[in-house]
Amino acid sequence: MADEYCGLLSREELLMDVKVLGISGSPRKGATDFAVNHALEYAGDKFGAHTEYFSLRAKNINFCIHCDYCVRKKKGCIHNDDMEVLYPLMQEAKIWIVGSPVYHGHLSAQTKAVLDRTRALMAKDRDVFSMKMGMGIAVAGDRNGGQEQVLKALTDFYIINKMSPVGGGVFGANFGGTIWSGDRGKSGAEEDQEGKKSIYKTLDRVFNLLQGV
Ligand SMILES: Cc1cc2nc3c(=O)[nH]c(=O)nc-3n(C[C@H](O)[C@H](O)[C@H](O)COP(=O)(O)O)c2cc1C
Repeated sequence: MADEYCGLLSREELLMDVKVLGISGSPRKGATDFAVNHALEYAGDKFGAHTEYFSLRAKNINFCIHCDYCVRKKKGCIHNDDMEVLYPLMQEAKIWIVGSPVYHGHLSAQTKAVLDRTRALMAKDRDVFSMKMGMGIAVAGDRNGGQEQVLKALTDFYIINKMSPVGGGVFGANFGGTIWSGDRGKSGAEEDQEGKKSIYKTLDRVFNLLQGV
């Protein structure tokens, strides 16, 4: 009753329409694919969120060529490729989970290409992402293979695009999800218990923030 009076939503109502988009920036079905799907399962099972998965594996996604078509025309991107599928998913989701393998200490080129191509949506509407939250999952072959740099790059992207970046807090998930695959693909990631905890902690924080707790 009090909730109704104040115009507040119950926990169930609040989470009912929350869509979580998970993007795997790996060109293969390996550790990142596993980690992002694992995160989505957790969000669905624990918080009842609707989840959507998009893998960059075998996708045709061109680089941004800075032609400024999107800025001049405000009709999206000049390329017609698999971003056409991803754009609406990005717009619909309240929460993004971007997972990237670590390549030479940084984002995979596939992940970076997608981030750059979001300019086409921003060009039409500067606030298109402003009410969204973003977390990252960085997956490396080494225990300390550059995960934090990748999470920093994702945080920078979220900030630049007016999104709210979320980390999992001290004692385990400081800047987000970090997975050590040991270069053993899915099985390596699956065995990384501490890494999986960093994903759970970050998602708990995302949903706590969403519920204002
Ligand atoms: C081009 C390339 C560069 C890489 N650079 C790094 C690196 O800098 N640090 C690291 O720990 N692992 C590095 N790796 C290993 C991957 O991060 C690791 O195998 C990861 O689990 C791959 O994710 P995936 O299984 O989802 O494809 C690199 C792999 C490739 C192909």
